[in-house]
Amino acid sequence: SIMPSHSGLFTVIERAARKAGPRLRRDFNEVQNLQVSRKGPADFVSIADKRAEQTLFEELRKARPDWGFLMEEGGEVAGDPSKPRFIIDPLDGTSNFLHGIPHFAISIAVEEPLPSGKREITTALVYQPMTDESFWAEKGRGAWLQDGRLRVSSRRDLSEALIATGIPFLGHGDFVEWSRIFGAVAPQVAGIRRFGSAALDLAWVAAGRFDGFWESGLKPWDAAAGVLLVKEAGGFVTDYRGADRALERAEYLAANDGLHSKLHKLVAGALR
Ligand code: IPD
Ligand code: CA
Ligand code: CA
Repeated sequence: SIMPSHSGLFTVIERAARKAGPRLRRDFNEVQNLQVSRKGPADFVSIADKRAEQTLFEELRKARPDWGFLMEEGGEVAGDPSKPRFIIDPLDGTSNFLHGIPHFAISIAVEEPLPSGKREITTALVYQPMTDESFWAEKGRGAWLQDGRLRVSSRRDLSEALIATGIPFLGHGDFVEWSRIFGAVAPQVAGIRRFGSAALDLAWVAAGRFDGFWESGLKPWDAAAGVLLVKEAGGFVTDYRGADRALERAEYLAANDGLHSKLHKLVAGALR
């Protein structure tokens, strides 16, 4: 398939990510040295998050001075309310980063106000600095990895499906709910993965690497870009009840159309 010409906006976003990415890469190599030095790595990681976010903020602000921002570290920066805003996670997969595991990403989404007063995500980039992969989507124009079109997987049997999830952790999430869903899904599928970056989990569903994904409690910056990627790759993302309200409910069930209804049946059954 032929890559559509990038919109000017996309070029701006990718340029920002490709500026912040090498910084994260350098800091990642440094964090491995820090493991053995006297300064603990945890603080350093939070500095790496903040520095990457600062780079993204400065670049994007320069290009779109009147747009707002919602960022994991810096919170909200108000813009012209009639204009779009950027939703940014400068480092998704912090635990991996901290442990020297090269699986983390920058996530940037653009949310536009609609005449109805609702807002929708229209542009998405999940950029993985260690592999230099750009997963990106623009509403109505498809999802792409570099210049190759992305499609969700075509597997239709649960027994062949590789499903990603996010497991609750200390002080974060509903263990009982997750365990129930796990108990319903795991015996039916080929495998479950917990790789530690929700943005990449969704990007990999879009790319057909994973056949499905579930997680609850995600924040908008974890998932806003990934949801558009999956949808533009032909997949479905809903809350656990099957409604198109994943972001509002902070419940994410993503898969291709064939598997989505099957997974949804299992998940809804587990939560009844
Ligand atoms: C986390 C990752 C992880 C998910 C957590 C998120 P962070 O983001 O996306 O996969 O399970 O809920 O908080 O903290 O690494 O930016
Ligand atoms: Ca995150
Ligand atoms: Ca983060």
